[in-house]
Amino acid sequence: MKYKIVDNIWDELRDYTQGDNYILITDKNIYSLYKDKIDRLLGGKDKLHLIKPGEENKNLGEIRKIYDSLIANNIDRKGLVLALGGGMVGDMAGFAASTYKRGINYVQIPTTLLSQVDSSIGGKTAIDHGGLKNVIGSFHFPLETLIDISFLTTLARRDITSGLGEVIKYGIIADYNFFKYVKENIEEIYNKKAEVLYSIVRNSVEIKASIVERDRFDLNLRQILNFGHTIGHSIESFFNYKKYYHGEAVILGMLLEANIAYKNGLIGHKYYEEIKDPLEKLVEPYEFNEEEVNTLLKLMKNDKKNREGKIAFILPIGRGAVDIFFDVEESTIKEAFFTYYKE
Ligand SMILES: NC(=O)c1ccc[n+]([C@@H]2O[C@H](COP(=O)([O-])OP(=O)(O)OC[C@H]3O[C@@H](n4cnc5c(N)ncnc54)[C@H](O)[C@@H]3O)[C@@H](O)[C@H]2O)c1
Repeated sequence: MKYKIVDNIWDELRDYTQGDNYILITDKNIYSLYKDKIDRLLGGKDKLHLIKPGEENKNLGEIRKIYDSLIANNIDRKGLVLALGGGMVGDMAGFAASTYKRGINYVQIPTTLLSQVDSSIGGKTAIDHGGLKNVIGSFHFPLETLIDISFLTTLARRDITSGLGEVIKYGIIADYNFFKYVKENIEEIYNKKAEVLYSIVRNSVEIKASIVERDRFDLNLRQILNFGHTIGHSIESFFNYKKYYHGEAVILGMLLEANIAYKNGLIGHKYYEEIKDPLEKLVEPYEFNEEEVNTLLKLMKNDKKNREGKIAFILPIGRGAVDIFFDVEESTIKEAFFTYYKE
């Protein structure tokens, strides 16, 4: 896995834009924010493909338009896609690159906190289809991922929260000292203090890359990256991906899954509180009623990690450590929704 945290992305990218055998894919929001720099990089060449921002456009219709641009630009098998954007652009540009002419190279240039710490590392590409998220996709590892934290200066507060969910997750699954550092610097992160952003991005990327490196195709170890995701995915899906951003749903998922770990005696009360304290301040929880929790349980039963009908949970077992469990009682899952805040 090749990734680099760079000081000036526009200088770094110049090496890739010398010839003509490439296109740069970004979304319209990013283009309007960084128009001058992008135009200067492309030097007047017609090498730009703009996609409409928003998860509702992460679909085959938009992929078709990318293929049309690749063909119109005569991109051959040695060609390159530059994916400049958040996880949505990265997933789509990566998917187009993985299928065009049976696969061409692409470079990830993530511009959101979530994409810098998560989606640009690990080679997963995807689009949504038939109301299902990321249901069509591939493993296609980028030539390299180039991260410039200065993109985060223009990011909206909710997108910071969303990325922060994944950052906190890395601390809980793999590095307790990092978890403590993040907890102590939440305000600095929202204030976009450069040295803190640099530190959280660097540590997160190192943790994710080292896990992916040992399980590139998600057969076992990578599953620990799903702490908070069993419940988080069910919450996202319950609200049709409209109420919570991905990382926000993961924050709620971690809160509830930490409660399950506490109830099952995997962690003590003190550590449960350490986890709960920062998470409950980041996202406004939703009070699910019993009927809604039953719907969430049904959604959890479709989780791809499940085995023989048993819902899989990644649960903390100590500071900086998690494990996978298939034997959580349904009553414990349900109870977590109604009692986590009292415990
Ligand atoms: N491949 C993976 O491993 C993986 C992992 C997690 C999530 N994802 C996918 O990532 C997507 C979510 O990614 P995301 O959270 O980055 O959302 P996103 O790509 O939709 O971006 C969020 C918003 O921020 C805007 N934006 C991007 N960069 C900006 C910047 N620097 N300044 C201001 N605005 C900016 C975008 O235009 C968009 O409106 C989902 O589609 C999800 O499925 C993929």
